[in-house]
Amino acid sequence: CGIVGYIGARNVKDVVVGGLAKLEYRGYDSAGIAVIDEGNIQVVKSVGRLANLEDKLASMQIAGQAAIGHTRWATHGKPSDENAHPHQDCSGRFAIVHNGIVENYLSLREELIAAGHQFNSETDTEVVAHLIEELYNGDLFQTMIEVGKRIRGAYALVVLAKDHPDEIIAMRKASPMIIGLGENENFVASDIPAILEYTRDIYVMEDGEMAVLTAAGVECFTMDGEPVHKEVYKVTWDAVSAERGGYPHFMLKEIHEQPKAVRDTLRGRIAEDFSRVQLDELNLDDAFMKAVDRIHIIACGTSWHAGLVGKAVIESYARIPVDVEIASEYRYRRPLFTPNTLVIVISQSGETADTLAALREVKRQGRRVLAITNVVGSSAEREADDVIITWAGPEIAVASTKAYTTQLIALYLLGIKMAHVRGEIGDDKVRELLKGLEDLPQATEQVLDTAPQLERFAQRYVDTMDTFFIGRSLDYSVAMEGALKLKEISYIHAEAYAAGELKHGTLALITEGVPVIALATQPDLYEKTVSNIVEVKARGAFVLGMTWIGNEDLEKTVDEVIYLPKTLPELAPILAVIPLQLLAYYAAVARGNDVDKPRNLAKSVTVE
Ligand code: G6P
Repeated sequence: CGIVGYIGARNVKDVVVGGLAKLEYRGYDSAGIAVIDEGNIQVVKSVGRLANLEDKLASMQIAGQAAIGHTRWATHGKPSDENAHPHQDCSGRFAIVHNGIVENYLSLREELIAAGHQFNSETDTEVVAHLIEELYNGDLFQTMIEVGKRIRGAYALVVLAKDHPDEIIAMRKASPMIIGLGENENFVASDIPAILEYTRDIYVMEDGEMAVLTAAGVECFTMDGEPVHKEVYKVTWDAVSAERGGYPHFMLKEIHEQPKAVRDTLRGRIAEDFSRVQLDELNLDDAFMKAVDRIHIIACGTSWHAGLVGKAVIESYARIPVDVEIASEYRYRRPLFTPNTLVIVISQSGETADTLAALREVKRQGRRVLAITNVVGSSAEREADDVIITWAGPEIAVASTKAYTTQLIALYLLGIKMAHVRGEIGDDKVRELLKGLEDLPQATEQVLDTAPQLERFAQRYVDTMDTFFIGRSLDYSVAMEGALKLKEISYIHAEAYAAGELKHGTLALITEGVPVIALATQPDLYEKTVSNIVEVKARGAFVLGMTWIGNEDLEKTVDEVIYLPKTLPELAPILAVIPLQLLAYYAAVARGNDVDKPRNLAKSVTVE
């Protein structure tokens, strides 16, 4: 989502709508604006593109001292006028825009309904508007401190209040927010491009900080109300690189967003004491989870690769047989269903034609479908019986990165939950796995430090024609995703092979200097994989190995090692894929390719 707020002498509506337009590249499904004019707050919102909102505004006379606006990327509740921001309380005294997720919104909502509040939307955000109304005692600043204590989750929150027409209050926890500093005017936004036209002086809000903006100035505080001194940061980026958060390409930005995407996808889905998975959004009840006797996972491209990891996880934990199928193949077969087959479709966009066609065919046959998708309001989300949303945020680069890692998170959560419900794994194992998942955002952060090593490697092999990615079990699934990444953006031919299968034919292609990327992240298969690495080394391959930190043994066999932070072996795919994404990225850059828009490919393929 995107947020823009403005207070000052310019036409407030134009500044905010113009700022929202600058955030258009992020993709969105609805937009809205609230303008305060003395004692009156006017809210206008519209589903669809920003142009729809502009059309509505064109015929209206709106002016005021301050305004806030929002473009929404739906999380709770479908894209609609009602669910668009700004949200208001019952009396319309407050208007708020919000990015992020209020984790405890259901319990707050119940509490507020009991206190007499009436809700107009399905969003988590509206809860905050009512909570402000409930706690308001004439002092907006103090009220917001109290609100901050009551809501859990991630937020960038911006508030307008009827009684305080000369100020905007903004607060941030785990969702990006910046303040733009002007002369007799000030700005707040989720992203720099929104305000770059007006100022290059900004405050970067840190986690747990809030700010009070007036036209005359900006004061920053902790969420307890203690003043904070902020340094002014001068933005030197041009408008184009600002869209990419300062990164040269969306793909690199999205690779670096993975710690956050993983964190967001886990948020609220693990019990605080690690005792169980909380996928409360599922309609699937325990009885059905116990009864499932077969699973079909259907997807295309990167999502299909995520499905391969899902199969391993679900089969080994929940002991349910899983078939992973390419959607364009599945739909033209006559799939065999058992009495209690569950079908899982995985689609980042939720709009891939082949995947949707398979979904519809399965539904036509009266089967239950669970969708894992990144887009609320997408066809897959609307048509499936159950949905797990991956909270990766909009993915813009054609090559999928953060969508894959968050799809894995969704599959782990589902697999662990099913295994637990079916009694296949005990409380201790659940706790161990959930703690492992909780540590992943931090570990993914650490893996990003391998970037310079991969950049060097990519530069060295820029003229390569062929590469091989090898690994066993989960490493093989990740190898397939690594090979696809390299092919799609660097145009270097790559093949993924089950390490043990190489000797049955493909080994003939290994000659002097051929680069082989060997994944060895699974301790129980480590020695077996090393034997296969020895086979390619003996034919002259240049081997880049990947293993866990502390396992220096691999250095004896390979030419170069990428070390991954230690995690549970079953969770290693999330970490192992990141260096492969970086390798593909740097290879594409070294070859001068259009990284974000590779030739012949589209982000969402809506033809069959
Ligand atoms: C396209 C994209 C791939 C993606 C695939 C499936 O081919 O280029 O990156 O993996 O579609 O997309 P979906 O949105 O269904 O996950």
